[in-house]
Amino acid sequence: MTSSNLPTNKIGNWLEERLKLSALTQIAQKKEVPLHKHSIWYYMGGIAMLFLAVQFVTGILLMVYYVPDLESAHASILKINSQIQFGWFIRSLHSWGANLMIAVVFLHLFSSYFMKAYRKPREITWLIGMLLLVITMAFGFSGYLLPWDDISFFATKIGLDIASKTPLIGPTLAELLRGGENIGQSTISRFFVIHVAILPLVLLGLLAGHLVLVQMHGMSKPPGIDTPEKPCPKEKFFPNFFLRDLLVWILSFNVLAVLVTLAPWGIGPEADPFAPAPLGIKPEWYFLSMFQFLKLMPASVGPIEGELVGIFLIAAVAGALVMVPFWDDGKSEGRSALATMYGLAVLIGFIAFTIWGAIS
Ligand code: HEM
Repeated sequence: MTSSNLPTNKIGNWLEERLKLSALTQIAQKKEVPLHKHSIWYYMGGIAMLFLAVQFVTGILLMVYYVPDLESAHASILKINSQIQFGWFIRSLHSWGANLMIAVVFLHLFSSYFMKAYRKPREITWLIGMLLLVITMAFGFSGYLLPWDDISFFATKIGLDIASKTPLIGPTLAELLRGGENIGQSTISRFFVIHVAILPLVLLGLLAGHLVLVQMHGMSKPPGIDTPEKPCPKEKFFPNFFLRDLLVWILSFNVLAVLVTLAPWGIGPEADPFAPAPLGIKPEWYFLSMFQFLKLMPASVGPIEGELVGIFLIAAVAGALVMVPFWDDGKSEGRSALATMYGLAVLIGFIAFTIWGAIS
């Protein structure tokens, strides 16, 4: 039997004639990744994708037993945790996975920022990335309410109260999410639909755009790394970088598995909307810096409510980050240094306010 007559080759040829899969292999073979001292940060987007895949698989499995009903939501989570085979494991993978994914997306954002990967021609990759961050955090916020325990209930209440203060869109947005004046059945139903249908669809669409653009422009090189005197070496994406990607995924999955087995995700007592809020209630760590910042605002600044001023300041800080490709386009050394310092200030502020919020 000659090699072209082998059954596997026959199937390969059949598929090739119909799907032209060789076009994909050609793209993978052409793709190259720059090799330099900061190359480690190129793995972050891939790790975020791994955790996203974990969220999809575990989320679908959780949906089999979770009931988005005021009377049954909490009981269904208790059942998943204690009666369903490996239920606790799947749920913990989902909860820890969400936190790791958000942490990795932050790492990916700041590393892309400091490597100046947002500059021409990657401005739109950056803007889509910012939307992906918002969607990722919205996943966290909407998922947090679903177990319907006391902390998740009151944390959501505080979050929606703050959101309702945002001028113009705030009150309508909060009302739309709540589905009425109080958090109740309508809120669970809406958060469930947002969490399992709307956000995944939007995220997949945005991610496809993000990845097509990354493919189109190739990986960026930090400024000064590739000069005519010292050109930056490159390696093939396939198989060199890809195999290391796989290794990094295995390591990341192990970190998740260790967290899940050593610290399975718990659940608090069922939410009682008529009980007083538990003392020292706080949002999840990724909202804590903003929460802490708003807590420090005085009752009023001149004629304006303090919290409103805080919301404006947070929006201004975030807005400058979103718009960075347009004020640091690489043509001015001064602006480049300013952008780096600004990024450092935001990063330090984010970490400091998060720690402050956690210990206070
Ligand atoms: C769900 C969240 C996200 C996923 C799954 C994701 C995935 C990826 C992947 C796989 C890459 C190529 C490899 C790499 O550079 O790591 C990439 C590149 C990139 N991402 Fe993301 N990303 C996400 C969010 C973000 C965010 C929040 C930003 C920043 C606002 C961002 C900005 C960029 C930029 C600028 C590049 C090009 C990097 C370069 O050329 O050096 N991404 N992303």
